[in-house]
Amino acid sequence: MFITAYLLGSIPSGVWLGKKLYKKDIRNYGSGNSGTTNTFRVLGVKAGILVLLADVLKGTLAASLPYLVHSDLNPMVLGLGAILGHTFPIFAEFKGGKAVATSAGVLLAYNPTFFIFCVVLFLVILFFSRMVSFSSMLALLIITPSTLLTNDWILTTIAAVLTVFIIYRHKDNIKRIRNGTESKVPFGFGYKK
Ligand code: G3P
Repeated sequence: MFITAYLLGSIPSGVWLGKKLYKKDIRNYGSGNSGTTNTFRVLGVKAGILVLLADVLKGTLAASLPYLVHSDLNPMVLGLGAILGHTFPIFAEFKGGKAVATSAGVLLAYNPTFFIFCVVLFLVILFFSRMVSFSSMLALLIITPSTLLTNDWILTTIAAVLTVFIIYRHKDNIKRIRNGTESKVPFGFGYKK
């Protein structure tokens, strides 16, 4: 089941959509990432929404596998399989995304209420910072201690591990944030057309 979850996570929605419909490998454009943000940036809103849904769904589906096949396996273990696949996809030369959307999908299956809290937190930070990378990282730094309120040590441990991993995956974004060149979304606080 872990391998199934990994293969599911490995479906490189952004790369495949870009290559098939737009004749572009999004990893050669924008930030070079294969995830949702770079799809919005390079291929536009429609493609961005599709990739967001696909990448979230991969995590949700993988973490739902134990329910679907009536297994006692912890959904988070399979969620990690999907996150691993999304980040190092066997179907795309192991060059995948930064794990944010698929992690969100895993959380959606595991704890929907906490998922809503995380999405709202992310959107508030995004509104004020206008940087997806910064919002993802700051949200994670707030989310990890917040998991203590759920009294779920598995969630807290995995959130802590993912926070370190995802921040590491954003090392190029951190450099750009520091030198003021990180790209911003065309909406939010202070945005002028
Ligand atoms: O989820 C990835 C996002 O936080 C940053 O993406 O393309 O700006 O590096 P990108």
